[in-house]
Amino acid sequence: MDQFLSGQTAVITGASGGLGAHFARLLAKAGAQVAVTARRLDRVERLAGEIAATGGRAMALGLGVADAASIAQVFDEIEAGFGPISILVNNAGIGGEGLALDLSIEDWDRTFDVNVRGVFFAAQAAARLMFANDTAAQGQARIVNIASVASHTVLPGLSAYNASKAAVAMLTKSLAREWTRKGIAVNALAPGYILTDINAGWWETDGGQKQLKGFPRRRLMQADELNEAFYLLCGPGQGDFRHPANR
Ligand SMILES: NC(=O)c1ccc[n+]([C@@H]2O[C@H](COP(=O)([O-])OP(=O)(O)OC[C@H]3O[C@@H](n4cnc5c(N)ncnc54)[C@H](OP(=O)(O)O)[C@@H]3O)[C@@H](O)[C@H]2O)c1
Repeated sequence: MDQFLSGQTAVITGASGGLGAHFARLLAKAGAQVAVTARRLDRVERLAGEIAATGGRAMALGLGVADAASIAQVFDEIEAGFGPISILVNNAGIGGEGLALDLSIEDWDRTFDVNVRGVFFAAQAAARLMFANDTAAQGQARIVNIASVASHTVLPGLSAYNASKAAVAMLTKSLAREWTRKGIAVNALAPGYILTDINAGWWETDGGQKQLKGFPRRRLMQADELNEAFYLLCGPGQGDFRHPANR
């Protein structure tokens, strides 16, 4: 495939499985050097090994995004190893399930710590580097936040998750408003349901089967169905939004 991201350094949070690992493989396939991060270091190390074995360049680092203060430190390590970060995929997320009457304060906080606070502080840490490392000045910097169909639609029984993903959508618009004209394109991808660990075990239940029948296509999405939209948001197809005087 066209190595249209060759020379770029991409960071993916929550890359130890599911969509994060999928996005990491896509970025590597397009020629980017990828820094795969998650709390489960063994898993991201295995993924980095797989990418290296197929000719890509990858490094694995442990990162829990709920520990917001550690994010900038890990991103500095990535720049020290791979050079300027130009792409951040803010993918780490948790399901936050629980009916509203049963949800504890801790459950609520955990969901928002990962899905919202983690997304914001990873974006902030990346943007600070992108403004300092010239990738924003060159109009090459990209932040892709993984939102959800839940950003816009109620997923039943998931009030904390829905609220967190609505926050991701609004954060994305707010950050785009601040940074896009200065060279960082900030966008969100809002996938429908895809089978991963976040929802495994649900689809075989009566409730899951009933929900599936209500989907327009009567099936789950496949991760591959996101590929073209994902590449558009990470690649040069986003265009150059900087003010002409600053190009
Ligand atoms: N699957 C879907 O149907 C669907 C639909 C729309 C949106 N999404 C979104 O897509 C993203 C990926 O989800 P997925 O479906 O791939 O689920 P998944 O397989 O459960 O993966 C979630 C990832 O997030 C990481 N993570 C969880 N807590 C973290 C923390 N505190 N710090 C850093 N990483 C953390 C996990 O890694 P560690 O546990 O190793 O840290 C894991 O790699 C999420 O934001 C999710 O909301 C999923």
